Amino acid sequence: MKRRSFTTLALAATVALGAQPALAQDNVFKIGLILPMTGQQATTGRQIEAAARLWMAQNGDTVAGKKVQLIVKDDTSLPDVTRRLAQELVVNDKVNVLAGFGITPSAMAVAPIATQSKTPMVVMAAATSSITEASPYIVRTSFTLPQASVALGDWAPKNGLKRVVTLVSDYGPGIDAERFFRERLLLNGGQVPESLRVPLRNPDFAPFLQKVRDIKPDALFVFVPSGAGAAVMKQFLERGMDKAGIKLIGTGDVTDDDQLNDMGDGAIGVVTSHHYSTYHPSAMNKKFVADFGKANKGMRPNFMAVGGYDGMRVIYDALKASKGQGGGDGLLAAMKGQIFESPRGKIFIDAQTRDIVQNIYLRRVERKEGQLWNVEFDVIKDVKDPGKAR
Ligand code: PHB
Repeated sequence: MKRRSFTTLALAATVALGAQPALAQDNVFKIGLILPMTGQQATTGRQIEAAARLWMAQNGDTVAGKKVQLIVKDDTSLPDVTRRLAQELVVNDKVNVLAGFGITPSAMAVAPIATQSKTPMVVMAAATSSITEASPYIVRTSFTLPQASVALGDWAPKNGLKRVVTLVSDYGPGIDAERFFRERLLLNGGQVPESLRVPLRNPDFAPFLQKVRDIKPDALFVFVPSGAGAAVMKQFLERGMDKAGIKLIGTGDVTDDDQLNDMGDGAIGVVTSHHYSTYHPSAMNKKFVADFGKANKGMRPNFMAVGGYDGMRVIYDALKASKGQGGGDGLLAAMKGQIFESPRGKIFIDAQTRDIVQNIYLRRVERKEGQLWNVEFDVIKDVKDPGKAR
């Protein structure tokens, strides 16, 4: 009886002094993963969370003697919510890294918090060129729209598509896509008779597509964020745009692997440029796709998943290299200049810009083994973000 009360007392004293929790805290490495898990961008959240969990299942949750803890928060893709969640994660949870960020406005909203708190911020999805310039603590593992768009501005006019109308979501990445595709097309002797912008929230593509039909260009270049591609494809086909001789081209966000297989045979032949296809034929990607599918009821990883998976690798490798020393600055320094093979091909985190350098592939939708895929037919190697050159 006496003995038991002594033990209880000792334990209570330790807890009161905070010795045990403090020790535990020091040995935990926290990643605050902020994603849209509901709402219009929910597929992005689902893909990235699944990829982050797959990375941890494959690589364990102990790195440099620390227990890695993933704290997932749903920002519903509203930037005010993203900002509040980031603040709470930094102040209350004392996270070591902020990560995720499904759309550009969410990433932009958190950039000042990363700077003030010296917390590395790994952007796994958002893709406007200027994001990495919003804070010196931002590192990107997704892609940029200028990176993806320029390749198509070279390909289109060489393949008989000289008059091209652009149709983009009216915010950062769409405006980047429109500008860089157009500039490259003009440089190659093409023309852009009209540039159309549709609202990001609840877009109705019908009136815009009608306008495109009237102009009757050789092709329509489209950027819409991941998750909105199927709606564009459906309305494009319903209006018989393809039958009217207008080719659909765009960045790979339109033929998103998350939705592609449900788009139907009307999608066959659509040419896009992007940094990742589920069908990428490397051994590493085949294993990634198989493992991802096994862990997620057969779901295909899309380009968002690969951004999340590689983002986790960047964090793990930085923690290993810095041995958990040096706080946010030590971790950030160890993220810069990383180079490794990803399921998408070789990637590099440019130490100067903290942005990703990667291959951009030209792909055509084909039916293979009974399913629709983005089949790569050309590659431009080691593409830096063209948005940074000016
Ligand atoms: C973005 O908001 O930066 C964004 C979102 C989805 C994409 C591409 C860019 O597919």
